[in-house]
Amino acid sequence: MEKTIALRVNGRAVSVTAMADTPLLYILRNDLALNGPKYGCGLGECGACTVILDGVAARSCVVPLAGAEGRAVVTLEGLGSSSAPHPVQQAFIDEQAAQCGYCMNGMIMTAKALLDRNPAPTIDQVRRALSGNLCRCGTHVEILRAVMRAARLLSSPGAHDDDQPDAGADARPDARPAVPADADPCGADGGVRRPADR
Ligand code: FES
Ligand code: FES
Repeated sequence: MEKTIALRVNGRAVSVTAMADTPLLYILRNDLALNGPKYGCGLGECGACTVILDGVAARSCVVPLAGAEGRAVVTLEGLGSSSAPHPVQQAFIDEQAAQCGYCMNGMIMTAKALLDRNPAPTIDQVRRALSGNLCRCGTHVEILRAVMRAARLLSSPGAHDDDQPDAGADARPDARPAVPADADPCGADGGVRRPADR
């Protein structure tokens, strides 16, 4: 039986009528047109669908709508915009941390939740926080660099951070092409895209 459920999404009061066990991910994407969170596995195992629920990273594919009742949900769209990206998004752009971009929503949202509770994580703490987020393209080194850069950007807003971030001894040179100027790491497509993804 359908139920009307109230929650807050990206700071806005929202009321949704749907089956109470509908995955929150479906509500966000299909009812609220928030396509930042991605459907990957649907089983809570890949992290592509991550949102921040009451300040904690959560996998929206396994959170029933009823589980979000009265709670605050933040999606990728709630962070920044293409013209004014959140520092975490900016850091991912600066480090060219995306290849196909499909995992970016989960990486960015998980990183945001981590940095909210631990503004100066060690590289190992970042690794642990992201260990459940899968990236089939293998951009892990760039992603780690991006999170460390984001921590620095957040600790000194306005600073342009050109220092080499500490991504550990396994950091490797980035041979990929630059992110195109019109790439959108913030909007409905949910991640930095490469020309081949369009
Ligand atoms: S789609 Fe939710 S964890 Fe994979
Ligand atoms: S899955 Fe393609 S960039 Fe991570």
